[in-house]
Amino acid sequence: MAPTLPMAPAGGHSQELSARQIAALQAEVRELASTRDAVILAHNYQVPEVQQVADYVGDSLGLSRQAAAAECETIVFCGVHFMAETASILCPQKTVLIPDLDAGCSLAASIDAEQLAQWRAQYPRGVVVMYVNTTAEVKALTDYCCTSANAVDVVRHIYSTHGEETEILFGPDMWLGAYVERELGRRMHVWDGECHVHAGIRPADIDATRAAHPDAELLIHPECGCSTSVMEYVAAGDIDSGGVHMLSTGGMLRYAQAAERESDRAGARREAVVATETGMLYALEQAAPGVSFIPANAEASCMYMKMITLPKLLDALRDNKFEVRVPDEIAARARIPIDRMIAIG
Ligand code: 13P
Ligand code: SF4
Repeated sequence: MAPTLPMAPAGGHSQELSARQIAALQAEVRELASTRDAVILAHNYQVPEVQQVADYVGDSLGLSRQAAAAECETIVFCGVHFMAETASILCPQKTVLIPDLDAGCSLAASIDAEQLAQWRAQYPRGVVVMYVNTTAEVKALTDYCCTSANAVDVVRHIYSTHGEETEILFGPDMWLGAYVERELGRRMHVWDGECHVHAGIRPADIDATRAAHPDAELLIHPECGCSTSVMEYVAAGDIDSGGVHMLSTGGMLRYAQAAERESDRAGARREAVVATETGMLYALEQAAPGVSFIPANAEASCMYMKMITLPKLLDALRDNKFEVRVPDEIAARARIPIDRMIAIG
């Protein structure tokens, strides 16, 4: 049975705001950000009114890079807790704020430091690769971090630098692990964690949207529960590989920008089915108004991402809350796999 998707609370705070209230709050947020010397970073899954007010909107890799390069005193992270921790690890001298401390992540919760230590102990010569969707304590026991944008490159780099026979322990997302294995034609030890939002986008969702939109291209986040079956459809020749794109959220945005340029030239409106968290649709529609984006599963909404609202962002800036600070000793160890990842690409 398909897992139940964690839903954004219906009638949540941001949905009750009028356009005028949103504009007033956004003006206050921008003014406070400037007086506080703060940069606002937002993930692609944030609600539109938060994306609109951010200095930078992007995927996990892009946000890590922006945090590392930030020159201001304060970073306000509109995303989930592990992302704010990553910013704190990369910028220990800065104040990192998150507007709601309860904005967690079901995938990051699928492995803790004790479980990783036990797993490592079973494979003493293994190299540990962990998705950035992990706690700082887990990163402190990790050799390399990766995101969905660079997981294949990171694993390829390990084989080329540590030797082709290297045993790799990959986690915590099993769907991303399966995608990397298939891309590289190699087996790894893969942790069986998953994000319930992405895992809940099932092969049946892809079948239904393909039937309704037979000419649409498929944009699939490799964390999705449909990703393995789509790769199988491609291998079996059921789907033309040219119309399938396995992409991080940042990769989806780059796809959209290129599709927009092409649809301008051809004068035709294109269609793309999007298999990821539905916040992505706003970002894609902004990037490519000439393309129709169809959610593979319209209920795939991350309740944690949607905990960040404009009023909470304003409170965070005004009251300097809630600070996320990783203890020095853990931060020093957790920084190593993040820096290795950023150096690879
Ligand atoms: P990316 O933005 O790196 O593709 O990650 C998606 C995600 O689920 C973040 O939690
Ligand atoms: Fe975590 Fe999934 Fe939400 Fe991303 S969408 S923050 S992986 S629970």
